[in-house]
Amino acid sequence: MTQDILLPNLWDGAISATLDEPGKLLYRSNLLGSDLRITNFGGGNTSAKVASKDPLTGADVSVLWVKGSGGDIGSMKLDGFSTLYMDKLLTLRTHYKTLDQEDAMVEALNHCIFNLNPRAPSIDTWLHGFVPQVHVDHVHSDAVIAIAAAKDQVRLTQEVFGGEIGYLPWQRPGIDLGIKLGQMAEQNPELVGVVLGSHGLFTWGATAKDCYAQTLRIINKAAVWLDATIARPVFGGPKVAAEPAPDRAAIARRLMPLIRGKISKTEMKVGHFTDAPEVLEFVNSQALAELAPMGTSCPDHFLRTKIKPLIVPAQTDDAALDGLIAGYRDDYAAYYARCRRATSPAMRDPNPVIYLMPGVGMISFAKDKATARISAEFYVNAINVMRGASGVSVYQGLPEQEAFDIEYWLLEEAKLQRMPKPKALQGRVAFITGGAGGIGSATADRLLREGCNVVLADIDAAALDEVGGGFSKRYGRDMVRSVVMDVTKEDQVIAAIEQTVAAFGGLDILVNNAGITAAAPFEETTLALWNRTFDILSTGYFLVGREGYKVMKTQSLGGSMIFISSKNGVAASPGASAYCTAKAAEIHLARCMALEGAPLGIRVNVVNPDAVLRGSKIWQGEWSQQRAASNKIAVSDLEEHYRKRSLLQRSVFPEDIAEGVYFFASDLSAKSTGNFLNVDAGNAVSFSR
Ligand SMILES: NC(=O)c1ccc[n+]([C@@H]2O[C@H](COP(=O)([O-])OP(=O)(O)OC[C@H]3O[C@@H](n4cnc5c(N)ncnc54)[C@H](O)[C@@H]3O)[C@@H](O)[C@H]2O)c1
Ligand SMILES: [Zn+2]
Repeated sequence: MTQDILLPNLWDGAISATLDEPGKLLYRSNLLGSDLRITNFGGGNTSAKVASKDPLTGADVSVLWVKGSGGDIGSMKLDGFSTLYMDKLLTLRTHYKTLDQEDAMVEALNHCIFNLNPRAPSIDTWLHGFVPQVHVDHVHSDAVIAIAAAKDQVRLTQEVFGGEIGYLPWQRPGIDLGIKLGQMAEQNPELVGVVLGSHGLFTWGATAKDCYAQTLRIINKAAVWLDATIARPVFGGPKVAAEPAPDRAAIARRLMPLIRGKISKTEMKVGHFTDAPEVLEFVNSQALAELAPMGTSCPDHFLRTKIKPLIVPAQTDDAALDGLIAGYRDDYAAYYARCRRATSPAMRDPNPVIYLMPGVGMISFAKDKATARISAEFYVNAINVMRGASGVSVYQGLPEQEAFDIEYWLLEEAKLQRMPKPKALQGRVAFITGGAGGIGSATADRLLREGCNVVLADIDAAALDEVGGGFSKRYGRDMVRSVVMDVTKEDQVIAAIEQTVAAFGGLDILVNNAGITAAAPFEETTLALWNRTFDILSTGYFLVGREGYKVMKTQSLGGSMIFISSKNGVAASPGASAYCTAKAAEIHLARCMALEGAPLGIRVNVVNPDAVLRGSKIWQGEWSQQRAASNKIAVSDLEEHYRKRSLLQRSVFPEDIAEGVYFFASDLSAKSTGNFLNVDAGNAVSFSR
């Protein structure tokens, strides 16, 4: 068992031999950040004091390289470090007198910056700078925080580490804590690090390699001790049994759109579900009712998860959920009112982030998918801490006022204010059929660019892999999902919409676009051709529309559906009666749905493309030959033919159609429903009337 617990030393001397000091620091940081047992995402920081030349005077100076504000040690690059003159940084100790100067001291850090480095120094800079040792790590290891969040944390630190690790009680990071840490290190040369109460671990070493090994050794020591000492069964043993896996997923899918609807009125939220073993162990346990309300301990944890989760029984119905969430908001408002200070920023979104479902697992909701996923990861860190602390002692959350002071810290608020404005479709979820095709993928690109989460649904698995993979690379894996689905198969459509809800928690934008072409003179149109055309175009749009409509109705957040019909849905065209008629049916279906959807805020509009040759797969096959033959021209002249035929004398591209879809998908068209928009460079025959 111990083998699973011990962190392996991954230091590769051959790699480090090629690196300079900043390079070694980066190497060490990336190694430490690559294992969530060492530190949570974005948590912790690393530093080295490096002998350098002043770029202006050429003088020898010592420079502190320390992870700057924001970023994650696991994935950071060299530009993620801020750099500061050590001599200036140390001088600040003499300028600082009282705690109320702490925030002003952060401003003063800017005067210590070396080489005009634009990376803002973090609030932990002091803690690294004032420790005399050259290499310093600060991590939020679950095993160490479990000890640091136990009621008798002072005694346990001594017991576990036997005097090689010091202890400082909880204090918000800043120059004051930095001075205390520095003094402790200076006055106790036998120490190799310090546990910060309710927070985490500092460790140090003479070289980058030693420091890394030291950090691992101390965490391993804590983990092994915990494992040997923890009372079993953990969390007092199970109180409820886990539902079977398919039922857990089904319960999560039922609850997610309901929750989403209730917490997205002012800012759209995206969901994440997990029923990982460590989550089930906690939510099913005897200790859940006692531990969950105590809140998380490490500040990093609750900044992401809110101080407390909401417990949602699996069978909760809509009305009961209303009550639970309203109760949570009231509690949050009361906490804000109790703890606020004269200078506190206004109350932020009072909705829960973490939803714990006994027997089922955990749902998290945040402004985007990555944040929701990372919030869930943070809560898993918090669960690990509670498991350890409650198993060897009594678990302690952070005192409420301390938690509030961190959450509403003016520096934290300033960080939020510096964040870029949300994109137009941030927090929304789109489902696009035919998403691997020309118009479908251009539409996905357009929506992704506006911060929308996208599910690509297509019958062509290979194309889907390629298109989906490309978008994941460009926009991040959290933003994109792919699902192989045939729009004519009811069970597949239902399953695809279910997967969308499971992946993101709901649905706001539905683009009915999957299509084929079919050409034949009228009397040669076989029943098979007629039926296939109707199955994919009309019936396919109906099935997908109906399943999406149900989710939108459950959420009661409105929604927007866009049907890609065709110029041929408005204007008859020779030799394609099945296609034209099926496309006309799509337009009329959209109108019927617009009528019924309006009281629910569900808008349904149509975009009519014409002659989008480039990028489109339907123009790569027979259709082109038939259209060329019917117009008595060569296939290679088709694009020019259609351009000349249009009123504006311009070619139409997939991106042009995507722009029309974006208009209807976004709030730009909030007051339009039941409409169609021709994006066809102008065709008098398809003018609306
Ligand atoms: N390209 C044009 O000139 C043009 C003009 C008017 C209308 N349209 C319409 O635009 C839409 C998109 O066409 P495109 O030009 O991007 O073509 P495309 O062939 O590039 O894309 C269509 C996609 O739909 C998928 N698909 C086909 N049958 C499916 C099924 N049964 N289930 C799920 N997916 C299926 C295909 O695999 C393909 O990826 C179609 O509805 C088409 O009728 C296109
Ligand atoms: Zn920290």
